[in-house]
Amino acid sequence: MSLQGKLALVTGSGRGIGRAIALKLASQGMNIIVNYFRHRESAEQTAKDIESLGAKAEVIRANVGDPEKIDEMFDMIGSKFGCLDILINNAASGVGRPVADIDVKAWEWTMDINARALLLCAQRAAKLMEGRGGKIVSISSLGSRFVLPNYTVVGVSKAALEALTRYLAIELAPQNICVNTVAASAVETEALKFYFKEGLVKDSSQLTPAGRMVVPEDVANVVAFLCSEEAFMIRGQTIIVDGGTSVGLFALAGK
Ligand SMILES: NC(=O)c1ccc[n+]([C@@H]2O[C@H](COP(=O)([O-])OP(=O)(O)OC[C@H]3O[C@@H](n4cnc5c(N)ncnc54)[C@H](OP(=O)(O)O)[C@@H]3O)[C@@H](O)[C@H]2O)c1
Repeated sequence: MSLQGKLALVTGSGRGIGRAIALKLASQGMNIIVNYFRHRESAEQTAKDIESLGAKAEVIRANVGDPEKIDEMFDMIGSKFGCLDILINNAASGVGRPVADIDVKAWEWTMDINARALLLCAQRAAKLMEGRGGKIVSISSLGSRFVLPNYTVVGVSKAALEALTRYLAIELAPQNICVNTVAASAVETEALKFYFKEGLVKDSSQLTPAGRMVVPEDVANVVAFLCSEEAFMIRGQTIIVDGGTSVGLFALAGK
């Protein structure tokens, strides 16, 4: 599948990593549906930037934590375009609290947006990909397998996302849909500012074997590869983009 002229939905692509993914795919000739929840201006700016790359952009507001809003979004995509080639499940939210302070509301909010949204979006996307195949790529974090401070609910939601990726990869394979996830270490975005204080970001930069922090474009590059035909035989995987941080933990412990 050449990316030229294909249609991609990137959830949460007004800002941060989602925006970088949207621009990367647009730079390869794809038309992009920019989904956002709260920040309309950022989403409209992303759409303008996509158009300045020569691609088409459509902005759709939808809270992916709400099943009805997901349905409305896909109804709109179905009636306007009639198909979809790529779903990038990037949008995420979460409550940063120690285990003792996690209540049902915090758990459900985080799980609904970060994990359940993949299930519901993939179900609807697969119908729009019928007869043409497609790609589904989600964004996860190292917190799915490593313990990070105050990251419990988000980490568990990302573990669910990665497990769901494996099931979707098998069940959607007969429809020629490739499903994978990209998991990043700390990436400099607003979400990172929320979870880590300034000092920790600097430390993490020094601890990255690659010598710098991961930037949104690093994640976008791998997502674009997973959307390409060259990645056809990669299924149900979680590809880590962390500059070597996770495999170098012990080697770097003395630094
Ligand atoms: N930053 C990191 O260090 C890091 C590391 C590893 C993985 N990740 C993952 O990478 C992805 C993007 O993170 P980021 O750092 O770019 O986050 P970010 O800067 O906080 O942006 C979050 C994006 O998700 C959207 N969003 C949030 N809740 C939504 C909802 N309920 N419905 C629809 N859209 C929603 C936001 O849209 P609005 O602004 O319109 O609300 C925004 O575009 C996430 O899956 C995150 O877990 C991030």
